[in-house]
Amino acid sequence: MKICVIGTGYVGLVTGVCFADLGNTVRCVDTDVHKIKKLNYGSVPIFEPGLVELAKKCYKDKRLIFTTDLKKSVSYSDIIFVCVGTPTVKETNSVNLKYVFKVARDISKYIKKFKIIIIKSTIPVTTGDKVEKIINSKVRRKLFEVVSNPEFLREGEAIRDFKYPDRIIIGTENKRIIKILANLYDPIIKKGAIYFKTSRRSAELIKYASNAFLATKISFINELANLCEKIGINTEDIALGMGLDKRIGSRFLRTGPAYGGSCFPKDTKALVTTGEKFKVNLSIVRSVIKSNDNRRSFLTKRIYEIMSNKLKNKIITFLGVTFKANTDDMRMSSSLSMIPNLLKKGAIIRYCDPSGKKKEFDKYSKVSFYSNVPKACMKSDLIVIHTEWNEFKSLEFKKIVKKNNFKIYDMRNLYSSKLMKKNKINYFSIGK
Ligand SMILES: NC(=O)c1ccc[n+]([C@@H]2O[C@H](COP(=O)([O-])OP(=O)(O)OC[C@H]3O[C@@H](n4cnc5c(N)ncnc54)[C@H](O)[C@@H]3O)[C@@H](O)[C@H]2O)c1
Repeated sequence: MKICVIGTGYVGLVTGVCFADLGNTVRCVDTDVHKIKKLNYGSVPIFEPGLVELAKKCYKDKRLIFTTDLKKSVSYSDIIFVCVGTPTVKETNSVNLKYVFKVARDISKYIKKFKIIIIKSTIPVTTGDKVEKIINSKVRRKLFEVVSNPEFLREGEAIRDFKYPDRIIIGTENKRIIKILANLYDPIIKKGAIYFKTSRRSAELIKYASNAFLATKISFINELANLCEKIGINTEDIALGMGLDKRIGSRFLRTGPAYGGSCFPKDTKALVTTGEKFKVNLSIVRSVIKSNDNRRSFLTKRIYEIMSNKLKNKIITFLGVTFKANTDDMRMSSSLSMIPNLLKKGAIIRYCDPSGKKKEFDKYSKVSFYSNVPKACMKSDLIVIHTEWNEFKSLEFKKIVKKNNFKIYDMRNLYSSKLMKKNKINYFSIGK
């Protein structure tokens, strides 16, 4: 099929590359000239395992085109995926839909024959109706259909999640489109994904409901972890015991720092705002947001405690600063609030992250990036294991730190407390 993907960020790029890999011809469009230039040079602007290789292969086979030419891309394609960002408006916690609406206005100039317009961006319920109205103000109704097809991929596992999703949600009542899209997704459905058809509004809300529910699971276990720490119980046992109940399931019951990333923080806030718009108090989601905000300061205070409130000129090394492993995404990572707070207390911060240096810390003179773990840890007073990258899972701290009485705060429980004790390392885990 001939596909156009608008927006080449985490979702758009993965969508475009994976559909091309399935044999479709895909034109990926972005307004960011620099990004498109880079992609045409064979360089992928985001860190996502396996994506470079797949993109290069499809590009070479001429099934993948990167361009800023929206007119040509829309005219050429039968299916248009909208994958632009939908960030939070800071002042109101609502969703900034300007990118989605701009795309709607722009593509309506070029629709001359029937197009399926699929919104993959996460948009509040009823936004599809507004997009339809915008396009319909320029284009005859029978020349287009607006469908919601929310994306559930996880950064760091995006290709796997695209190829083997649990479900594909298609929000449209149009039977012909349901058939066309079943055909497009056929290779994925054949591998076991459930093709779930529903109304457009339901599809939009399913995305927010899913993210809010997963965020609730994380916050729930994080609060229980605080209790477990006080009583001396291992949260991992609680999570395992709970998870054995099939109604609960063990996934997303791992304690750690506050959830971050580009989705959960933004989508929980957006859901509450949508509730307000329709005069419904989504009090559970509201509490989850609060609990997660508290989590950031709770873990920072824990660092103060571990350091007996003596942080002045202490070297603190963060192993990982991204919100999770296998991504370079820093959006809403808890390190972004922890590090400035530690700096205020006089600490000297080093960080090492396999996805590279982060521009977010460039403004701080006392924050330095190290590409090498032993160098980052050498002579540190405290090592904070913030992100669960494989690179940090089997380090011999005694050999690399070379300082007496250094401490480790393992926010991901990557190491055995028993072994650390045996090796006489001052080790602090989480939720135990
Ligand atoms: N990142 C994730 O893990 C994830 C997962 C599921 C859903 N989502 C949702 O998918 C959407 C996209 O998220 P993302 O993380 O890929 O965003 P992103 O910020 O990484 O990428 C958005 C891209 O859209 C481009 N863009 C903006 N306006 C444009 C226009 N008019 N024409 C062409 N390109 C334009 C930007 O230049 C940018 O490259 C959001 O709604 C997000 O909530 C994200």
